[in-house]
Amino acid sequence: MIVSVFGASGRTGKAFVKLAAESGLYVRAHYRTAPLEPSPDTVTVVVGALTDPTAVREVLRGADAVVVLLGPHPSAHRVFCATATKAILAGMATQNVPRILCVTGAMIGERPSNVSLALKLMSFGARRTEQGDTLADRDAQERAVRSSPAAWTMVKPATLTDGLGTEFEAGPAVSVGLSSRCTRLSLATFLVAEVTRPQYATSAVYVKDR
Ligand SMILES: NC(=O)c1ccc[n+]([C@@H]2O[C@H](COP(=O)([O-])OP(=O)(O)OC[C@H]3O[C@@H](n4cnc5c(N)ncnc54)[C@H](OP(=O)(O)O)[C@@H]3O)[C@@H](O)[C@H]2O)c1
Repeated sequence: MIVSVFGASGRTGKAFVKLAAESGLYVRAHYRTAPLEPSPDTVTVVVGALTDPTAVREVLRGADAVVVLLGPHPSAHRVFCATATKAILAGMATQNVPRILCVTGAMIGERPSNVSLALKLMSFGARRTEQGDTLADRDAQERAVRSSPAAWTMVKPATLTDGLGTEFEAGPAVSVGLSSRCTRLSLATFLVAEVTRPQYATSAVYVKDR
């Protein structure tokens, strides 16, 4: 299987690329700037701008699935996730990539009953702060993915942490609240499993550590 990754340089991205390669997947990884560390033979590094359709198509070439792990840096002033994801979806259509797994967050998009009231209130309040544009961009990112003709899985982790992975749970009805946490290793582990053995096509999946 070939999996394309956008956001490969990020913290979850690095964990995903490593785990995917160790699991026997061929990886086509996108970077804005070339990574300093060497990559395994089964990882193809593609360096380019997300605004360059040729670079995006090159990342997607021959892929069975694409994983999107893009997210804004805390100090960022310009949103980019919705536009970049639309460019990836357009590239998928030309490259016949059948599946997208897009990571957003539990505070993004629709808020079903498994998301706690406290988290919903926090999400509501944050939209009235300087985070509002960022959250609106992520909402638009989700809408773009959900309206895609490709098989999509929206992956919505709890607050991400670093460190060793632990046992985690994942599913459309997993309850997520203010105190829920998810290590990036747990998230990467879930993504590799979901790429390899799809369970949640056309579905939103919440992920948190037990
Ligand atoms: N932090 C949390 O608690 C939390 C909770 C739930 C969900 N999430 C989401 O989970 C995902 C993974 O999070 P993470 O913390 O592992 O990510 P991260 O380490 O912050 O990595 C972000 C990735 O996005 C890329 N990126 C940032 N700004 C960009 C721009 N303007 N143009 C193109 N690429 C850009 C980065 O590339 P460069 O290295 O080139 O900058 C990097 O590959 C993200 O979608 C995040 O929003 C986070």
